Amino acid sequence: MTIAFKVNGKDVVVDVAPMRRLSEVLRRDLGLTGTKVCCGAGDCGSCTVLIDGTAVCSCMVPAARAAGRSLTTVEGLAGGGLQRAFHHYGAAQCGICTPGMVVAAAALLAGNPTPTEDQVVTALGGVLCRCTGYRKIVRAVLDAHRFDGGPAEPAAAEPAPGGAVGARVPRVDGLAKIAGAEVYSADAIPADALWLRIVRSPHAHADFTIGDTAALAEDCPGLVRVFTAPDIPGARRFGAIVGFHDQPVLAEGTVRYRGEAVAVAVFETAPAAEAFEVADFPVRWRPLAPLETMEQALDDGAPLLHADRPGNVLATGLVHKGDPEAAFDGAGVVVEGEFETPFIEHAYLEPEAGFARRLGNRIEVFAGTQAPYLNRDGIAAILGIEPRDVRVVPVTCGGGFGGKLDLSIQPYLALAAWLLERPVAGVYSRPESMASTTKRHPSRIRVRIAADADGRLRAIDLSGDFNTGAYASWGPAVTRRVPVHASGPYFYPAVRVRSRAVLTHNPPSGAFRGFGVPQAAFAQETLFDEMADKLGIDRLEFRHLNALRPGQATATGQVLEDSLGMVACIEALREKWRRARQAAARHNGDSPGHLRRGVGVACLWYGFGNTASANPSTIRVTLKADGTLVLFQGAVDIGQGSDTVITQICADALGLAMSDLSLVRGDTDLTADAGKTSASRQTYVSGRAAQLAGVALRGEILRLANAGDDATLALEGTALRVGVGGGEAAREIDLATLPADAEGVVLSGEGTFDPPTSPLDENGQGVPYSCYGFAAQMAEVEVDMELGSVKVLAVTAAHDLGRSVNPILVEGQVEGGVAQGIGYALMEEYLPGLSDNLHDYLIPTVGDVPAIETIVVEEANPLGPFGAKGIGEPALIPTAPAILGAVREASGVSIRRLPATPDRVRQAILAAQGGDR
Ligand code: FES
Repeated sequence: MTIAFKVNGKDVVVDVAPMRRLSEVLRRDLGLTGTKVCCGAGDCGSCTVLIDGTAVCSCMVPAARAAGRSLTTVEGLAGGGLQRAFHHYGAAQCGICTPGMVVAAAALLAGNPTPTEDQVVTALGGVLCRCTGYRKIVRAVLDAHRFDGGPAEPAAAEPAPGGAVGARVPRVDGLAKIAGAEVYSADAIPADALWLRIVRSPHAHADFTIGDTAALAEDCPGLVRVFTAPDIPGARRFGAIVGFHDQPVLAEGTVRYRGEAVAVAVFETAPAAEAFEVADFPVRWRPLAPLETMEQALDDGAPLLHADRPGNVLATGLVHKGDPEAAFDGAGVVVEGEFETPFIEHAYLEPEAGFARRLGNRIEVFAGTQAPYLNRDGIAAILGIEPRDVRVVPVTCGGGFGGKLDLSIQPYLALAAWLLERPVAGVYSRPESMASTTKRHPSRIRVRIAADADGRLRAIDLSGDFNTGAYASWGPAVTRRVPVHASGPYFYPAVRVRSRAVLTHNPPSGAFRGFGVPQAAFAQETLFDEMADKLGIDRLEFRHLNALRPGQATATGQVLEDSLGMVACIEALREKWRRARQAAARHNGDSPGHLRRGVGVACLWYGFGNTASANPSTIRVTLKADGTLVLFQGAVDIGQGSDTVITQICADALGLAMSDLSLVRGDTDLTADAGKTSASRQTYVSGRAAQLAGVALRGEILRLANAGDDATLALEGTALRVGVGGGEAAREIDLATLPADAEGVVLSGEGTFDPPTSPLDENGQGVPYSCYGFAAQMAEVEVDMELGSVKVLAVTAAHDLGRSVNPILVEGQVEGGVAQGIGYALMEEYLPGLSDNLHDYLIPTVGDVPAIETIVVEEANPLGPFGAKGIGEPALIPTAPAILGAVREASGVSIRRLPATPDRVRQAILAAQGGDR
């Protein structure tokens, strides 16, 4: 069918099937890839476009509906005041939702340039964002009218050389993301690429046999080839951690979770791949009883998921300090409880996608990832080739949060492209993404805490089981990190924490913003509230009394002497806490109805980087004869802002302006290994490496100019001016005259940093991390006692992050983390096979996230770049226990199983009232 319509003011004519999704027509036929497709079901709003001024989800609109209409996509709004406001406020992080947000906001502003906040929230209610916490988006839309015709405020002038760290610098990749010009994994697939589909298990546990795949070609037009496990030239299993490579690339004979891959079918075109009915694939399943819960898996006599993992226990962890039994015996007060948390889906909005191509005896893989070098090594092993023959190009990542550390689509792209010697592409559907990728570990935690009658802590005894699913992924990392952190940022003379990762027939649990610490913090902080109440001590003051202080030994015996801002974070909340509690009490007294208010507080500490193991990053900066200054930085920016932060740090270390630096982002052929983007390590570890690289290059320049360290630098074309004595030119270096290498590089600097740690002994004693972040968060909530629903009214977050390198990005991380914490506390629960989409799996919308105040506490880290530590994971961890503490104060009930959905809260209220029914 021929359809004519306008897009962004231009007439277009397309010849397409009338029921084809409009989103696909825009992206594939018209090349307007600013419109993103993240769910394909109208749940997320990323594909929002305007049809005659009305915002619609283009993935749900048949192409025929566009006939004769006028469409506007994000590309048609480029350069407007709305987008300038988004950039100014830092409203885009990963940016995958941003086009949908911008278009939805434009629809509102077209008829109402100065909307109220409620109107903005209503207009954006159908567009999901997993990164930002929405607050900066709302602010940008409210203020957009001030940016029409140009910036409303002089755009933050670029910081002077040496002034980038600490400045509110807009992110270096912001404008492209806001204009819809940023290229994500599904946006740059070669036209001649083959397309793959993956055949997956519909059963949580089954034996299977694959039939005659050759016969399939007759029924499947465009089918090129089917691959199964025997086609894999190298290792048939992969994993994240050495010694735990247990996950089949393609299962052989047995599947252990619903969604496990058994075969790859490759087609000539995307439509042929999409038309493939996976149910027609010749496979005979013999379903087996799955071990769905940890109780089943740990039961005596339970069958083993893996023969080499007795008892279905993948890994264990322990921290033991002092004499806990003796401490409990003499305690004034003891509290105890058992806590449960569910699977949590990362719900990054960008599903896995990408392409691979073979170039001679090398393979190149273009896909979003958090761990390019780990990916490279894993793909090399699977193909049976050397790592140097694999190039991983981490395309802009539309959110990760830990879920894109593991290999997902990459092995299948690489395998098919390698064997067929043609480019191969693929895009996971939303249900496929959710069914097949890792989750946050469900947990069951038993904990006892003892204190003296004066409120000083004596001991904690915590035992946590973590459901690690069918394969290892990052389960061992969770069992190591939990014991170190489970006692919280407090001083205890005695600690015993044990952890186990338990194998079950579920999707692998992996890394998700906190590696088990959010689960442990929920248990420990909830019991702290009960302990404080028993002692008759204010809950905040109880934490202040016991907060870790310089000179005290942590649970692992490490003594922190500096950069320990726990007390400062609590004190930053103290006055607001007092006033908020008074206000809540006043509300409850003045309005003794069913809406009750409460205030909660929780604290956090978090070690940056890998636990007690090597963790290096290397960053390089080069200066060419033509005056080009290039920062080769391989710390993948998954939305958190490492491209910007590392540029700020390197620029200041060099003493040049940020705009002098051009960026080469992560690419295993071009950038050195900056480790993985996880464990909140990039600002600290890669940032320190960037600082060292900048210092090294600056040293080269100063030596050449025979200038002292106080010299100023200025780069203009090929002229590098080195000033001394207030900027007076001491020497001008003409870069074009210097000897250059094959790439034209005349001067360079490289920095490598590996944070100092020590191995933990058999009792978990040692130095697991070289520095820690600290935080205290306060949540104000309103509980509907009749419905059990909880509304979060405000969150205040005080974080010690060493040095705020970029306050816009820090606020963004805190707001995004708090939003994820709200979801974790109140609504999110992934049920394998039941909630593989974004309408059954709920994440916070713009209406669920209240005002968030970020308070920065800067306890400089002597090892960090300009004193910086980090912020990514800490932002989420205290939110849920703070909310649950507020719910407890408002309603009188203590919730011990997450999420605290209205039915659970209501049930608890009824039980407390003696009316359990
Ligand atoms: Fe909204 Fe990442 S910035 S999903």
